[in-house]
Order: sequence, then C-alpha cells, then structure tokens
Amino acid sequence: MVAELPAELIGQVEQAAQLLQSAKRVCILTGAGISAESGIPTFRDKQTGLWEKFRAEDLASPVAFARDPKLVWSWYQWRRQLVHDKAPNPAHQALAQWQAASSSLGQHITLITQNVDDLHEQAGSDAIHLHGHLWKNRCSQCDSIYEDNAKDKPLDFDEQLITCPHCGGYIRPDIVWFGEALPAAAWQMAEEAAANCDVFMSIGTSSLVYPAAGLAQLAKQNGAKIIEVNPNPTPSTVVDITLAAKAGAVMPVLINQLTDKTDK
Ligand code: APR
Repeated sequence: MVAELPAELIGQVEQAAQLLQSAKRVCILTGAGISAESGIPTFRDKQTGLWEKFRAEDLASPVAFARDPKLVWSWYQWRRQLVHDKAPNPAHQALAQWQAASSSLGQHITLITQNVDDLHEQAGSDAIHLHGHLWKNRCSQCDSIYEDNAKDKPLDFDEQLITCPHCGGYIRPDIVWFGEALPAAAWQMAEEAAANCDVFMSIGTSSLVYPAAGLAQLAKQNGAKIIEVNPNPTPSTVVDITLAAKAGAVMPVLINQLTDKTDK
C-alpha cells in the first residue's frame, strides 16, 4: 500500500506512523475535506446551481434565518438532498478501523469533527460534533428538538417551513451558525482531548474557523506533536508533520501501518 504513494510522501507517512505508534492519547479534528472524496463539496468550494450567488457564510447565520427563514431552510433542504446518498470514503473507514482497534493498540482516540454530515457515524466511528448535525432539527424559538415522526416517509426535502408544535416558532437545522456558541459539552470534551493528547491530527480542514482551529495550538502548548493531512497549505503554524495528500489516499496507508503489523 505504501508503495502506491508518491515517493516524497512515503517518508512523512512513515514518520507519522512512528509518532502515532508510540502515542497513548490521540486527538483527531476533521473538516469538510475528509468528506470531499465522498462527493460532498467543502465549505470553501464555490456553491453551485441555484445557490451559486450565495456564500455559505451569508446563509448559515441566525440573522439570515430571521431575515428570510424560507431561503435558509431551502438551502439546508438542498444540502440534505446533495448529501443524502453520499457514503463514507476510505478516509472515514480508516479512522473507524483505527478506533475499533484502539483498545488492542493501547490507545485512546478522540475524534472531533466540524462536519455536519454523518459519514463518520456511517463508517462506524464515534465523533464529537462541534458544529451540529445536518440531519437534526430544532425549534428556532423554544429550542426543543423537532423529530419528524413519520419515519417511514421517504426522505422529505420539502422547502415548506415547519412550525414548532410547542410554540409555533420556525423549525431550523440543529447546526451551529456563524456567530453562535458551540455546544458547551462538545466543546469541553474537545478542549479536554486536545489539551491531553500526545499527538493531534488535523484532517481536511482549512484551520480558518475558530474556536475549532485553536485546538491544534492548545495541543501544541501542552506538548503534543501535530500532524496535518491536507493536499493544500493551511495557515496553521504548529504542524510538525504535513501529509500533503488527499485523506482518502493517505489515511488507509497510514492506519494500515498502525493496525496491521504485517503490511509493511
Ligand atoms: N483530503 C483532505 N483535505 C482536503 C481534501 C481531501 N480530499 N479536499 C479538500 N481538502 C481540504 C482543503 O484544502 C481545505 O483546506 O479541506 C479543507 C476544507 O476547508 P473548508 O472548506 O474551510 O472546511 P472546514 O475547514 O471544515 O471549515 C470549518 O467553517 O464554514 C465553517 O462551520 C463551517 O465547519 C465549517 C468550518
């Protein structure tokens, strides 16, 4: 498997594998890039179709929803339609394989994601969601969780606004919008894991959006080594090993080095 990687990458992958093999506690932060090879556009990819003229930042906010709830709700229904038939790619699967093998490897792995898709879960991973869940909804007024109980109904991408059965407020996606606080429990677990890990891996994130982007610095300040997986450069200044490759290509090779001693 290693031989399939470009020569210049093999050295870094082996270096990263050595680091990870001796790590007892590993903290992983993923971003939209890990879902790119599943066919889900990243956040900073240009929007397409009807939504081409909008920037994600201008739709994913409480102000935008208050101003035009139907527009924002329709955008999320469009994103759900885009995502619903996508499947985990080899990067998601490699992380799930590693998490499953972690106790036999004597390792504790915490997976944190900025993504709102459920591809980590579909691959079998447990993930801490800092920015919420695309497939969950809640009331924009009373915050109560809204579950459309007609489970047997085919996936419904209706753009019609839904009102809360408790207070009549509009239902919104259970996603953290720009300007909103992260879920306190999720953020506390993420900080705890980053501050106490031996190795911190950042996979498929531009490291532009805080506070999530600050987790690598927190790990570094507490003595961790930092590995970044991204085909493009990022502004992160704390990286020790850069795997400049697509996650779907490099993660299976790296994780095989950790979980399958025979595969050299
Ligand atoms: N493998 C690994 N990384 C990839 C791949 C790939 N196949 N394809 C793209 N990338 C990288 C890009 O180079 C980019 O650095 O993934 C990163 C995606 O960056 P963004 O689109 O900014 O997504 P993300 O970092 O997750 O954004 C963080 O910002 O917009 C908010 O809440 C939103 O959760 C999101 C947060």
